[in-house]
Amino acid sequence: MTAINAVTDLTTQDGIAVLTVNSPPVNALSAAVRQGVLAGIETAGKDPSVQAIVLTCAGRTFIAGADITEFGKPMVEPSLHAVIKGIEASPKLVVAAIHGTALGGGLETALGCHYRVAVPSAKLGLPEVKLGLLPGAGGTQRLPRVVGAAQALEMVTSGTPVGARQAAERGLVDALAPEDGLLAFAVEYAREAVADGKPLRKIRDMNVQAEPGLFDTFRKANARKFRGYEAPERNIQCIEAAVSQPFDEGEQTERRLFMELMTGTQSAAQRHLFFAEREAQKIPGLPKGTVVRQIRKVGIIGAGTMGGGISMNFLSAGYAVTIVEANEKALERGVGIMRGNYENTAKKGRLTQEQVERNMGLLTASMAFEDLAECDLVIEAVFENMQIKKEIFGRLDQIVRQGAILASNTSYLDIDEIAASTKRPQDVCGMHFFSPANVMRLLEVVKGEHTAPDVLETVMQLSRRIGKVAVVAGVCHGFIGNRMLEPRQREANKLILEGAMPWDVDRVIYDFGFPMGPFQMADLAGLDIGWSAETSKGVTLRDQLCERDRRGQKTRSGFYDYNEKREQTPSPIVEELILRASAERQIKRRRIDDQEILERCIYTMINEGARILEEGKAYRASDIDMVWLTGYGFPAYRGGPMFYADTVGTRHVVERLRAYQASSETDFAPSDYLLKVAEEGRGFSSGK
Ligand code: 3HC
Repeated sequence: MTAINAVTDLTTQDGIAVLTVNSPPVNALSAAVRQGVLAGIETAGKDPSVQAIVLTCAGRTFIAGADITEFGKPMVEPSLHAVIKGIEASPKLVVAAIHGTALGGGLETALGCHYRVAVPSAKLGLPEVKLGLLPGAGGTQRLPRVVGAAQALEMVTSGTPVGARQAAERGLVDALAPEDGLLAFAVEYAREAVADGKPLRKIRDMNVQAEPGLFDTFRKANARKFRGYEAPERNIQCIEAAVSQPFDEGEQTERRLFMELMTGTQSAAQRHLFFAEREAQKIPGLPKGTVVRQIRKVGIIGAGTMGGGISMNFLSAGYAVTIVEANEKALERGVGIMRGNYENTAKKGRLTQEQVERNMGLLTASMAFEDLAECDLVIEAVFENMQIKKEIFGRLDQIVRQGAILASNTSYLDIDEIAASTKRPQDVCGMHFFSPANVMRLLEVVKGEHTAPDVLETVMQLSRRIGKVAVVAGVCHGFIGNRMLEPRQREANKLILEGAMPWDVDRVIYDFGFPMGPFQMADLAGLDIGWSAETSKGVTLRDQLCERDRRGQKTRSGFYDYNEKREQTPSPIVEELILRASAERQIKRRRIDDQEILERCIYTMINEGARILEEGKAYRASDIDMVWLTGYGFPAYRGGPMFYADTVGTRHVVERLRAYQASSETDFAPSDYLLKVAEEGRGFSSGK
């Protein structure tokens, strides 16, 4: 074995050279990997004893892409382009042997090889679009030449990888290797290819055509999904170029569009989120050698919407779940809804009937708290009432085995107060799921004053296993997400009294990139949550709407009127009520422009985020960005509220808040931490 450099080596046996990349964790194409691969290909190419080359990777995966940490830094030779060109032009036949994930630059490298073999569990894809980019090393030009323009369009704009079997059907993989015998298979494949006189197939020389109208139809069909994002359109343009331009010209188009995206704010935002997601899992100061607790059996209290949704997460991931509910009818109903949800997913083809039965088979429905005794984790998901929650935790303390984790799904209440009703506050934490809990990715893990480090770490790891993005929050009203939602809600309600209409506010927030505005969201959720006719004072707009039975989408009227297709139109009744409300409060309405709406809704949120950091209720600014991305639909291409503040400038945020301070001293007072960051001329992402 010859080491080419620290991360690549070359061995030759019976005429087949094996070039191995060994650069943990994911064999990303760092400068060293690029240098090693190119040098290895050249060395083997010149060696007369070598007939063919196998390119393979050590560790858990084939090359998982360009090294994202190198982005934005000066390029070190050779470029990935040069490496792939070197492979494709090699005088020896090159076979890529793929396991794990061949992603981005990794798949592009494999596409430069003359043949590709993969184990069935391997995944192949071009996920650049998720980083606000496009495959910039020939991927958009080679992929369509192999799988056709339509499939390539789907793959580059979704970024979703395909399994090796599917890849084989599409011609992207030439042969499937046995799961535990990839290298031997690839070597044999290369030997036979040479013996059979197979050509050194260069994808660049292949032709690609597209059905007439393919691109326009595709754009129209996906317009909603791509709204606001720059990268999908550029990816489409590259596939168009693959069809309409010769290879080299197409590559130049790809290069130009790639650079446009790479230097733009959107990609910076999306790359920030890629690292933010991974960073969020890490607990600063976690004692070395912390051992996580074993979680096998999970108990859920409450079979309502939240309890049911939470249970489904665990069932889908293979955990045994005992769900407890005091009321028999509610229990039956809850279990029925869970089955119904699974059946619906099965109808859509995303689950087999066996999987539905397997999941439901893991569920035990009970009316007795005693059945939770053997659980390793119990999550309480009853309605928001401190007294009831304290009683429940007091009982759990008596019943559940020592060492189990006791969690509350509260969205606002004080975890420390809840924990104080047990004799084991170190085992108590918050697990705040977002509705619908089986769909939304966010989980706020609330760390109480006494929560033990191993409890926190166990819950963080468990969250990942059930497919959630977990973010640690400290104890405060509304934790991270709902606490920041409050100022936005407050401003939205003030704005409509001062001169805007709900549809103005919603339009601005929607155009900013959220899936909907605050009033549309209120209509969707139902205006009568927490409202009752008996206690209504008829003072707030919400009271007045509910009293008129305008309770939101479900009654086909709320802030908007809805037709049978749930399409909304502004309501003249609401307009009338708002005008009256302004008059009653002696507010002289004025014209409010879009900029003011945006700044008052978003900058006050940023200010609250800064306060959260100041108080240490979030570990880092990027955690706040993750909360807003995964729990509230903040547009990924803006990177989350704190990253967005950095892009517009923290000084600018302070200036604008000060400008509004004339109207309210308290609502717009910049927090100390925001002021500090702005004065230092930096952003939140550069650390606390
Ligand atoms: N560059 C640099 N670091 C990377 C990386 C990359 N492409 N991919 C992963 N890493 C790092 C992660 O940040 C993480 O670091 P940490 O341990 O310090 O937090 C570590 O590798 C392990 O990653 P994960 O925790 O994500 O491990 P998983 O096993 O869950 O997932 C994976 C592995 C599926 C490969 C996932 O990491 C992934 O999706 N990576 C990104 C793939 C990608 O987007 N590639 C395209 C890059 S852009 C490109 O190639 C441009 C080209 O066209 C020119």
